[in-house]
Amino acid sequence: MSSNSSAFTKVLKNLLVLTSGRAVQSAVRAAHAGGRSVVLVPTMGALHAGHQALIREGRKRSSEVWVSIFVNPTQFDDPADLNGYPRQFEADCKLAQEAGATGVFAPSLAEVYPDGFVGQFSTLEVNYGRLTSELEGQDRPGHFDGVVQVVRRLFELVEPDVALFGEKDFQQLAVIADLARRENLGVEVVSVPTVRGEEGLALSSRNVRLSQAARKAALLLSAKIKAVARAPQPLAAADIAFAELADHPLIAPAYFAVVESDTFAPYDPENPRPARVLVAAEVDGIRLIDNVALEGVD
Ligand code: PAF
Repeated sequence: MSSNSSAFTKVLKNLLVLTSGRAVQSAVRAAHAGGRSVVLVPTMGALHAGHQALIREGRKRSSEVWVSIFVNPTQFDDPADLNGYPRQFEADCKLAQEAGATGVFAPSLAEVYPDGFVGQFSTLEVNYGRLTSELEGQDRPGHFDGVVQVVRRLFELVEPDVALFGEKDFQQLAVIADLARRENLGVEVVSVPTVRGEEGLALSSRNVRLSQAARKAALLLSAKIKAVARAPQPLAAADIAFAELADHPLIAPAYFAVVESDTFAPYDPENPRPARVLVAAEVDGIRLIDNVALEGVD
């Protein structure tokens, strides 16, 4: 079964699985009519413990937690990345159900984009200043256009009260919080801390594509952002960390940055404000991102 199959409704051990926007809307409206708020956990599937943490956080807020599973083509700047994106729908439903989700909403492409789109690209262009132009915005042109386009549409289809996003995609979180604020969407955007494996690697759907050697190399990303976050001179430490990553045969870093958490302006040690240390790198051809809070400025 794929998320692009024709509309169906299925109940899987107490988990409702819907593909039609109309069906999810009536489930959500029934919850609202019963006085229950509705939480949405938007995902692209390939669920892991990080997504389950989002669902569990959702359950603390409401008995109605919907997980959307939709691999959104318009946010991929690289067609190979889209084609290789892991898809495991049955396993995802089990993981969602185990974490306490009420339902899975797995819309088709036509449901999300009834007017279609050109090639793989978003028909919407967003400019939220530094939030969309820096770091991921610069390294993945069009990425946030696609993210905003799909999240806006998912909010429109599901009509949640609250939507949960992981801090692992820290810039995405900032962009979506700004979207909700700018467009007054009436959805509370809530962040949930990154879940890490025992050795510190941030959980990501892409990790399943890492070889053993690449996984070992990927551990350097979390180790280095944590070291920079504690460094007395974080900007100099970030430059050194970038150079050290670039020296590794399996790692091609895209950026290693320290920016203000709310504005994404460069961190200014003369005027210290809450800040984030962020890294993006290809590790053996797999693009990974990670971030932590800069210590001592919160
Ligand atoms: O973080 C993700 O998995 C995706 O970017 C999201 C928010 C589900 C939009 O497709």
